[in-house]
Amino acid sequence: MTLAEKLGQLTMISLGGPPTGPVADPATLADVAAGHVGSVLNLVGRDRIATAQTLARSTRLGIPLVFSLDVVHGYRTIFPVPIGEAAAFDPALWQETAQAAAAEARREGIHLTFAPMLDIARDPRWGRIVEGPGEDPWLAARFARAKVDGFQGADLAAAGTLAATAKHFVAYGAAIAGRDYASAAVSAGSLAEVYLPPFRAAVDAGVAAIMPAFSDIDGIPMTAHAALIAGRLRHDWGFDGVVISDWDAIGQLVAHGVAADLAEAAALALNAGVDIDMVSGAYRCGLPEALERGLVEPETIDAAVLRVLALKERLGLFAAEAEPAAAAGPPASTDAAGRRALARHAAERGTVLLHDRSGLLPVGSPRKIAVIGPFGRDRGGGADRIGPWAGLGEPDRAPSLPTALRARFPEAEILSKAGVDARRPGRRGLAGAVAAARAADLVLLCLGEPADWSGEAASRAEPGLPGDQAALAEAIFALGRPTVLILTGGRPLIAPAVIDRAGAALMAWFGGSEIAAALARILAGDAAAGGRLPVSWPRSPGQLPVFFGERPSGRPYDPDNPFTSHYLDLPNAPQFPFGHGGTPGAFALSGLSVTPEAVGPTGTVSVAVTVASTAARSDEAVIFVFIQALKALPNRPVLELRAVERVALAPGETQRLTIPLSAAALDRLDDGAGPEPGRYAVRVGLDAERSRHLVAEVTLGAG
Ligand code: IFM
Repeated sequence: MTLAEKLGQLTMISLGGPPTGPVADPATLADVAAGHVGSVLNLVGRDRIATAQTLARSTRLGIPLVFSLDVVHGYRTIFPVPIGEAAAFDPALWQETAQAAAAEARREGIHLTFAPMLDIARDPRWGRIVEGPGEDPWLAARFARAKVDGFQGADLAAAGTLAATAKHFVAYGAAIAGRDYASAAVSAGSLAEVYLPPFRAAVDAGVAAIMPAFSDIDGIPMTAHAALIAGRLRHDWGFDGVVISDWDAIGQLVAHGVAADLAEAAALALNAGVDIDMVSGAYRCGLPEALERGLVEPETIDAAVLRVLALKERLGLFAAEAEPAAAAGPPASTDAAGRRALARHAAERGTVLLHDRSGLLPVGSPRKIAVIGPFGRDRGGGADRIGPWAGLGEPDRAPSLPTALRARFPEAEILSKAGVDARRPGRRGLAGAVAAARAADLVLLCLGEPADWSGEAASRAEPGLPGDQAALAEAIFALGRPTVLILTGGRPLIAPAVIDRAGAALMAWFGGSEIAAALARILAGDAAAGGRLPVSWPRSPGQLPVFFGERPSGRPYDPDNPFTSHYLDLPNAPQFPFGHGGTPGAFALSGLSVTPEAVGPTGTVSVAVTVASTAARSDEAVIFVFIQALKALPNRPVLELRAVERVALAPGETQRLTIPLSAAALDRLDDGAGPEPGRYAVRVGLDAERSRHLVAEVTLGAG
């Protein structure tokens, strides 16, 4: 291969939009025809993909292109955004939705997705909290495994699979003050125990690609982080897939202040282990000069090229006619058999009942339902149902809540009024909305944040209800009608007073193509809101970051002692803890036992607990098992999640649940030396609120 051909393999260009950053080196199909491109992102449509691939196959070496796209929570059929899917606490479902998305996308010629996003996020000011599995590393590691298995299947050359990209390596979610693209504030300890474990799980599951984060750690941008990419990822963990830069991230090493020009930027990234340059042009424009200046070795380029070719081989691209023919049947459709049902099931499982203070659910047979608020509009608004990074999802094919209610409550009159705008202040429609609500016997108050206020470059200093939504809520609550608040958004929305005053409150996230049908069924009592919060839900931005896995304080809060860790003006606790959700009071836990009470380093204990249903209907309890190392140096978080079980119970049923917990599970989640001998508390509960946990102890012997 010539140098230009090699650098072509390391170059990814964008042939579609919209761009999510600067395009320093606009490339076209002519570059493909010249053999100067190895992969493409954002090109969609079988015909266009086939045209580009034919050009690539007609070059001197005929090496096919990899086509890539952000297939994050669906391709055509859209499932809940990842934070909403995480709320289902259901690895089998996570895998199934990834499989469905892969099947749709691969049929259309896409080979690689930039998912799963595995960034632990503990600050909802950061808009990209929507794209990941929430605040907990153990949960994120399970999510990683399920998503990689779902996207990739057993054989990437097989139909219906996508190469997965675990992103953004690493600690992108620790952006200072939740501001996207800012430096990550992360200690070595939390890097090892919080941010790295989900990536380790993805690597262990055989993920094909990794994308470094835009951010830096201690002044080293992740795109140039040799110690973490070449060191931890490749050397220590044995990752042999490709590392793909984020959009223009190599070129941006100059703005980061670590490279003087494109040649230095390219050398830093390549030497750190980044194989593919996404759109910055740094490799094809900067590496020739870097070679001349002795900043990179030719062998380093060759090694990167070999990894790219190995990916193409793994994808089966060297087989003739690996692309779908233009005539390979109709394009993927949201209406394909089973897809809508899966999307609805995922939406039901991910929707979280925040509270039902007034016992409004199920809603019975209301005669007149007023759907009030900017997220309950009858027409339009589909983009806010499918959310950000929705692939080729069709907003118009995600029915509105009024439409779904008409189908589920055919006898009822359904009125809908937006009342206010979700983006800007203005109360022109408020009086009309209040009048509609006054005449109804059930009000569904649909508030939230728009889809484009969540995701990349969508940080919010005050992630509450934008515009005059709070004023609308006030006016509706003042009517005293039974009111169910339905929130749409990609993050916990900080609006404690509005949430509290509602008769009941549901978090629907951006729930996907079938969220409206799911909500109609939840309201009717055909399905439970199956979700539990995968993130703590703050009361105020002043509490941020807020998460359950804090390290112990030497002065833990004691209400009788002012010199303990607390705020003067707010409780420490979030409005709702991690794990919160489900029908209030539907389940009771008792009789926790851990046997045997002492275990060696290779042993396993049985955690047994009795779960009783006090619910009027069949429902699923979600049971969380946490551990707490009672002494360790460095010390360990006051709670560490180690198991989650969903148990279906009939009304009044009681089950004794047994969950095996290996001694290895007592270990830190890092790459450490194994669990320290000593005493561990095992805490079991329905959420992360410690005061409600059942607690037992196990002693780990030295072996
Ligand atoms: O995959 C994304 C990444 O998460 C953010 N920047 C753009 C990439 C490609 O679209």
